[in-house]
Amino acid sequence: MYPCSNPELVAAVSDAGGLGIVQPVSLTFVHGHDFREGLRLIRRLTPKPIGMNALIEQSSRIYHDRMVKWVEIALEEGIRFFVTSLGNPRWVAERVHAVGGIVYHDVTERKWALKGRDSGVDGLIGVNNRAGGHAGPFSAERLLQEVGDLGLPVVCAGGIGEEHEFAAALRLGYAGAQLGTRFIATTECRASSAYKDAILEADEEDIVLTERITGVPVAVIRTPYIEKMGLRAGAIARWMLRGHRRKHWMRAIYALRSALQLKRASLDETGTRDYWQAGKSVRSISTIEPAGAIVRRFAKAAVEA
Ligand SMILES: Cc1cc2nc3c(=O)[nH]c(=O)nc-3n(C[C@H](O)[C@H](O)[C@H](O)COP(=O)(O)O)c2cc1C
Repeated sequence: MYPCSNPELVAAVSDAGGLGIVQPVSLTFVHGHDFREGLRLIRRLTPKPIGMNALIEQSSRIYHDRMVKWVEIALEEGIRFFVTSLGNPRWVAERVHAVGGIVYHDVTERKWALKGRDSGVDGLIGVNNRAGGHAGPFSAERLLQEVGDLGLPVVCAGGIGEEHEFAAALRLGYAGAQLGTRFIATTECRASSAYKDAILEADEEDIVLTERITGVPVAVIRTPYIEKMGLRAGAIARWMLRGHRRKHWMRAIYALRSALQLKRASLDETGTRDYWQAGKSVRSISTIEPAGAIVRRFAKAAVEA
């Protein structure tokens, strides 16, 4: 999760038997680690496997080249599980398969699942309409109907805050779950206590989609700040996003601006710049706990499901 996954959180999830996922921009830009050193720090905290998120949107050449280097470093440091989001995952799949690794691809609709399958990914992560971050249009049930017949395992992302919701996803036919919001409300997450408290206090009606962060809808907690900013992109941004060439510029501008805004908001203890991403799973999150305790509870529920 950008900006919420710090090394201690990733390590705690993996150490308890989950698969903690490193987000490279979060590790370097937000939490201040050199990428390779950050991976080695996690390795010192746990010997268990971790994964890496490769957000592969082609908005800028510089970003793409940096991502290629991050994937190479991750492979050199022994990472063998990758989650790709946005973009075409083919280059990641080819590179990772060459060393025996595995790639799962985030999808919100069948057309992206087909693209992922044709690019050679090993599994899909179905991001549904209850997810934090870039939520999809479909419920968990409907999304599994859309993408469940492609011969790939499908992981459920969105709306899972408690173990009974995880067990229900497994019973539906999902192969596992990808959690974001639940892991922000943990003792290891370095997000501000104002952000964590907002997750504990929010109910699902408090989650709204705003275009103002990245140009496409992102799920955030409705706060006075969000209400003041409005939920739609401005007129100029909308015009830019409509043009075939212009839209890449606009996305690059958004990416830079949102990286700064989200970093500031996640660490700011005053709670005045509260751009807090979260999904509807806030409904069932009521305590700040160690990440390992959550993973162990979920594992127990999976055995019983
Ligand atoms: C604060 C936050 C940041 C996120 N950042 C990313 C990201 O950088 N890359 C990505 O692929 N997904 C990102 N996501 C989406 C999560 O990987 C996951 O799909 C989603 O959180 C699942 O929904 P949940 O929050 O209800 O558990 C983010 C989610 C949150 C809440």
